[in-house]
Amino acid sequence: MKKQTVSTLLKRKGNEKLTVITAYDALFASIFEDVVDCILVGDSLNMSFAGKEDTLSATLDQMIYHTQAVCNGAKNSFVICDIPFGTYYEPKVALENCIKVFQQTPADAVKIEGGKEKSEVIRLLTQNSIAVVGHIGLMPQNVRSEGGYKIKGKDQSDINRLIEDAKAIEDAGAFMIVIEGVKPEAAQAVTNAVSVPTIGIGAGGDTDGQVLVWSDMLGFLQGSYPKFVKKYLDGHNIVKQSVQNYVEEVKNKTFPSQNETY
Ligand code: KIV
Repeated sequence: MKKQTVSTLLKRKGNEKLTVITAYDALFASIFEDVVDCILVGDSLNMSFAGKEDTLSATLDQMIYHTQAVCNGAKNSFVICDIPFGTYYEPKVALENCIKVFQQTPADAVKIEGGKEKSEVIRLLTQNSIAVVGHIGLMPQNVRSEGGYKIKGKDQSDINRLIEDAKAIEDAGAFMIVIEGVKPEAAQAVTNAVSVPTIGIGAGGDTDGQVLVWSDMLGFLQGSYPKFVKKYLDGHNIVKQSVQNYVEEVKNKTFPSQNETY
């Protein structure tokens, strides 16, 4: 599979669906490489990797560290680095921080949560050669200010607001837009309103592509999953059972056998 670029991704608007998955390390990135179009180093790593409650305490240095690891494992992938909470509150600060990401990692793009209120941030980044993926709808970095993860696009005025946000960030230079946690009719309306590809997560099937968090879709999390997650593997139980098999074989002395012995 040839490595994607901003221009090949743009051409997928309305064509073959785009596929994106998160990764936080070289090992999993190397598995996903050549299977998906893009790898997102999401700040969801704060939960999936670090075991925290939400994304808000992820730092820029942590995002850089994980992006370096992902890029090491997937040198042929289009890698997007999520820009964490509190590091892009004004255009100049965002530019300084995203320059740091681009200087310290080979990431191809950054992702910024926010609608029209973030358009000046996105404009300054794109004017300075930083490719930006937008992120609208349910924005996990708003979980505390909104008192939870709230589904968006439930009525026409909300849908109009989402369209306005998408158009504003497209106009500012975002080349792709993640739409998270919205009613499918809202995602469809936004997708029709912009000329850049939209990537849905919990947004129905009418966006130009989909993104999932790897540890959700491979079943590594315990407990209840959001409705939009499809579990493609029972990762938690498969890994646990394998480790239990190892422990049992060590105890009953069937591991190591002749095969694993010099
Ligand atoms: O952090 C993340 O993994 C994300 C995806 C859910 C889109 O932003």
